[in-house]
Amino acid sequence: MSEAFYVTTPIYYVNAEPHIGHTYTTVVADMLARYHRLRGEQCFMLTGTDEHGDKILEVARERGTTPEAVATEYAQLFQQTWDQLGIQYDRFIRTTDPDHRVVVQSILQKVYDAGEIEFKEYEGLYCVGCERFLTDRDMVDGLCRDHERAPENRSESNYFFKMGDHFSWLAETIENNPDFIRPERYRNEVLAMLSEESGLGGELCISRPKERLDWGIELPFDDRYVCYVWFDALINYLTGVGYPDQSEFETFWPAAEHIIGKDILKPHGVFWPCMLHAIGAPLPRHLNVHGFWNLDNRKVSKSLGNLISPIAMDERYGFEAFRYFLLREMVFGQDSSFSEPLLIARINADLANNLGNLVSRTLNMTNRFADGVVPTPGAQEEAEAVIEKTAARVAAEVDEHVLSLRPQRALESIMGLVDETNRYLERREPWKAAKDPDRAGQVPTTLYTCCESLRITAVLLSAFLPKTSQEILSRLGLDSPLEEASLHDLTRWGLLQSGLPTVKGPPLFPRVDVPEESK
Ligand code: MSP
Repeated sequence: MSEAFYVTTPIYYVNAEPHIGHTYTTVVADMLARYHRLRGEQCFMLTGTDEHGDKILEVARERGTTPEAVATEYAQLFQQTWDQLGIQYDRFIRTTDPDHRVVVQSILQKVYDAGEIEFKEYEGLYCVGCERFLTDRDMVDGLCRDHERAPENRSESNYFFKMGDHFSWLAETIENNPDFIRPERYRNEVLAMLSEESGLGGELCISRPKERLDWGIELPFDDRYVCYVWFDALINYLTGVGYPDQSEFETFWPAAEHIIGKDILKPHGVFWPCMLHAIGAPLPRHLNVHGFWNLDNRKVSKSLGNLISPIAMDERYGFEAFRYFLLREMVFGQDSSFSEPLLIARINADLANNLGNLVSRTLNMTNRFADGVVPTPGAQEEAEAVIEKTAARVAAEVDEHVLSLRPQRALESIMGLVDETNRYLERREPWKAAKDPDRAGQVPTTLYTCCESLRITAVLLSAFLPKTSQEILSRLGLDSPLEEASLHDLTRWGLLQSGLPTVKGPPLFPRVDVPEESK
């Protein structure tokens, strides 16, 4: 049986439209699922929406409607957005789905029966934006660090999960599995949270009295309460693959890869492993943590209202170009800046000048000097052998970078092959060689080498730029879907058959002019 791969995005709150932050996490997950599928693995990608909690109730009240209506409207918006942008998820989960309620209630009961949940009074400062009580570290000048608003004073009797009982086990597990949380800086952050000095506290409030919040999953052991959102939300990762007894669960759960932003490290790095340990479920394979997209040096978030819509980017530049920018520009784990001039500069340098240029020059010359079909190559000389070796090296590098969650390095490497092939073409100058009787015999080999390098480039790009990759392959006369062969076989040099009819086509990525106001 083939290896399994299970990738998840966070489930998105249903109070904001999809923006660059959601899009980045989703695109990384989509890229990974596509890449692993191409490696011949059995893949499952989960995304969805996080629909319970005070925030949705607040929005529903403001609009004079029901939380169900608000949740459905936004869930559809997210789902339609991902569909329109070609994200290949396997399930879109909503925390209001009936199977999710059953799983959450069964887990609550299990943890309660094990004596890990207690009932007591609590008083503290609560941030509606974060949906939780804050600690001193979460605040700056009396305001929530993330939401820049004052928390409310609240006192309530509630149910608490005694997660602190699992802290020493968790710290030891993280120490023993150094790449469980990656990149490394986030592992260190979680270890710091688990240390006593962090003031995190070992109790996680998991309930809300219905009299104040009745929009949630009822506690199976006390119908006066609903479940507090993080406990409910995290469990989506289990529901999504059929916890506890469907066969998908056995297959996929041990292969789980969570992709999250750094702002939700604590729930995923601390609460979640403790919850899993309490129910005797294994940990996911990795917790992969990315940084923030900044705009004008502030993070882009719905609370601050400065949004960049993926649909607007699609209309203006094409989603593939935006997707390329996101994956190429951000060093996974670190923060990055977004601006349209930066996006345009990337499109022009990498996609129009480098990749687009190689495609159009290769196919134009194949049309002119080889009757529009992939030519039959003659013997390789040193220059061709260098391109073949570069392609093999790049394929190995891409594999290593993708598996280690370095999409930016993988793309850099692929563009290196394109660059090298462009330089090879410059040196071979088939447009001159074709007219020179001493060199004309070299032209079919030169063009074959460029076509073959482009084919391998397209295969390697397919998880990153699926449409562009298909387009390049079909212009090379290759129409069958990639899934039919494995990545390893597809990147072997020399697979491209001579005689295939090629198509010149319009520019893949036309150069974009920098808008006047940005100059
Ligand atoms: N509902 C929770 C997640 C529950 S998962 C069990 C949530 N939702 S969210 O809609 O607020 O955010 C979802 C994701 O978007 C998070 O990974 C967050 O880090 C990411 N981003 C939000 N703004 C972002 C940027 N400006 N940049 C990069 N990612 C950011 O949190």
